Amino acid sequence: MTRKTYRGDRIDVSFDFDLCIHVGACLLGLPGVFELGRRPWVLPDAADPDAVAEVVTRCPSGALQYQRHDGGRDEQPSATATVTPLRDGPLLVAGRIDVTREDGIIEQLPRATLCRCGLSKNKPFCDNSHLPGEFTAPGGRIHISRSPVRPRATDRPIPRESDPRRDH
Ligand code: SF4
Ligand code: FES
Repeated sequence: MTRKTYRGDRIDVSFDFDLCIHVGACLLGLPGVFELGRRPWVLPDAADPDAVAEVVTRCPSGALQYQRHDGGRDEQPSATATVTPLRDGPLLVAGRIDVTREDGIIEQLPRATLCRCGLSKNKPFCDNSHLPGEFTAPGGRIHISRSPVRPRATDRPIPRESDPRRDH
């Protein structure tokens, strides 16, 4: 599990591929900043830092985080975390949580998507194994739109092997 930081003059954006659930909220939100096929795929200074920060906080998995250098407010996750089951998928956590990984390392996150199907190979995080596992359970719908990570089916993220950011 590695978090890579993309440095900007006004804001840094960091990304952990192993947390990403590939729903593409970042790509849709600011295509000039987040571009799948480009290297680096994140250009933090390509938009207003307020806009970059706002789109980063739309990342449901906590894969994306940011740090401001321009005096702007860093993310202030709620001290009370809320947990929402997503239909046929993970538990969506919003708020500051400490997650203990299988290797014992504690990850502090402002947002997270946690496995509830039992099939993830990256527990306790969701890795989309619920899709081939055809896990079904009631829950809310996460807003998923067509994007470069889902060029066809609008309700299915691409498999992680197909995401070009794998070797970001
Ligand atoms: S979980 Fe979605 S918004 Fe977050 S980095 Fe992955 S594709 Fe982007
Ligand atoms: S809920 Fe996504 S892998 Fe288990």
